[in-house]
This record gives sequence, structure tokens and C-alpha cells, in this order.
Amino acid sequence: MPLSMEALNGMRLLLAADDRETARELHGVLMASGAVPAACGTDPAEVVACVAENPPAAVLAAGADAAGLRAGLDPLGLGGGPEVVPLEELTGAAEPFGPAAVRRLRAIVERRDLLARRAELEAVVATQEVDRRRDLDAAGAETLRRLALAAEYRDDNTHEHIQRVGELAARLARRLGHDDRGVLLVRQAAPLHDLGKIAIPDTILLKPGRLTGEEFEVVKTHAVLGARVLAGGESDLVQTAERVARSHHERWDGTGYPAGLAGDAIPFEARLVHVADVFDVLVHERPYKESWTVEAATDEIRRGAGTQFDPDVVRMFLELSPGGQD
Ligand SMILES: [Fe+2]
Ligand SMILES: [Fe+2]
Repeated sequence: MPLSMEALNGMRLLLAADDRETARELHGVLMASGAVPAACGTDPAEVVACVAENPPAAVLAAGADAAGLRAGLDPLGLGGGPEVVPLEELTGAAEPFGPAAVRRLRAIVERRDLLARRAELEAVVATQEVDRRRDLDAAGAETLRRLALAAEYRDDNTHEHIQRVGELAARLARRLGHDDRGVLLVRQAAPLHDLGKIAIPDTILLKPGRLTGEEFEVVKTHAVLGARVLAGGESDLVQTAERVARSHHERWDGTGYPAGLAGDAIPFEARLVHVADVFDVLVHERPYKESWTVEAATDEIRRGAGTQFDPDVVRMFLELSPGGQD
């Protein structure tokens, strides 16, 4: 079969040949196939220099150590550099370097190009996936924020309480050394702590004065109810919010509800929110109570260290500046 000038259609090739005669022969066939061949010796350092000077689509290794050339061209094994094709891979044992070998060479180079293009496409898709994830996270956070507002309208139609609890819990998280993402999670999850109150009857939730024992049992169900609404979430935010909703009334000494968890068994974010929630409730008026002074509420938190509250969280709370700049 005659050689076709289109076969290698301007393909730049580097011949690494150990004898001049072979190099000359190959050069002729490659030229006749439309390639643009260049030649150099078989020493890996020399080949690396030739490739750097004029990058080829492939290196044709004739009597050269192909593995050694590959190692020289791609020292970290990352798949970079041109393909190194041993001559015997194209010609078999006795076959001369002719049209069949040229077609094989073209197929090898095209396959490599395709793989490189696929890797590029995969990188583009991965980037788009990150963008999509970010959009979804933002949409999820927005939905949760509105859910928290809906719950808050039940007992504080200014919905300032949940925002203040979010702020204070986030300040505590930062103080305890959490990174920006951890702090943001607490900031966004904390306002959902009382989500379950959406299911508590107004007659109990808005009752002025003390609740009966039975009524209090109903109020206590808000922790599990809120967690149930958030259960099974896939995002970190929903999972954090679920832990906060379920465990923000657990006490350090194990006498809280709903599970009676103690100490470190209580999710960390819930321990933060517990302190922030109690403090904020104390310093603001509620249907059933007057507001306390900041000093009296701070004393109450201090007294609860090690019984009601995580002592480390209380220590951080006491170190916060009243102005809220830390
Ligand atoms: Fe609560
Ligand atoms: Fe609250």
C-alpha cells in the first residue's frame, strides 16, 4: 500500500535512533507520510533537551531504551510529556517501517490526544461540580434560614432571638479555635435550635406564667421534633442543625433532655448553642419572665459551669467582650 501524505498530516515527531542508517530510513518514510520529523540520539538527557526545544507529538525510539526515555521525559510519572513509541511496537519482528506502522503510530498519538482531551474535560466538569455544589449550599442555607424564621414567628415575631443566638454561638466557636467554615456552620445552624416549636400549641408556647408539669413535657418534645424535620440531611449544615436542634437542652451533668447525654457525648455545637440560648433568654423579656441584667445572667451562666454547661464553653463565654467584637 503506498504511503499517503495525509497519514501523519504535519505531525511533529522526534526520532531517537542509535544508528544513522536507521534514522535516515525512518526519516524518509515519515517525511513521505506527511510528518515533520526531527532526529536526535538515544541519550535520555539529549532527548529531553530536544523535546524541550521543539515539542513533538511523539518520540519514536529506534534502538533506544524507551522506558529510560519515558522516565527522563516524565520524571514524576504524571503522564506528561510526549508518548514514547518503541519502533518494534509499530513494526513487529521483521516487518519494515511502512504504511501499516505509520497507521499504528497515528492511532497511538490520536489515542493519547483523546485521553488528554478527556482529562481536560473531566477537570472542567469537576470545576462545574464545585460551582454547582456552592450554589446548592447557598440555596440550602437560604431555605434553612427561612425555616428558622417561620419557627421563630411563633414566639418572637421580631425573630431577633435566633439571630442573636446564632451570633453569640458563632463568637464562642471562633473563640474555641474553629476555622471560618466551622464558625459559619454554627452561625447558620444555631438559629434552627427551636425549629420543633413550630409543632407546640400556642396555648402552651405563649402561656404567660409557669407551665404545669404536663405542659412542660409537651414543650420538651420540640428538641426531637426539630431534629426529625432536619434528619437525613446530606449537607454539613443540615446535619449540624439537626444535632443542635436535638441536643441544645442536654446538660453537661447528664440531667438534660431529650436523651440525658453528658459531657463530651453532647454534640459540641449544641453545647455552644445551649449557653448562647440560655443567656439570650435571660437578658430578654419573655411572656413568662422579666428580663435579667447582663451581670445577673452572666453570673447564672458562670454558676452553671460543669453542671448545666460545658465548663470550657463557659470559660470562653466569660472571656468574650460585652461589645461583641471578638
Ligand atoms: Fe429549645
Ligand atoms: Fe431559643
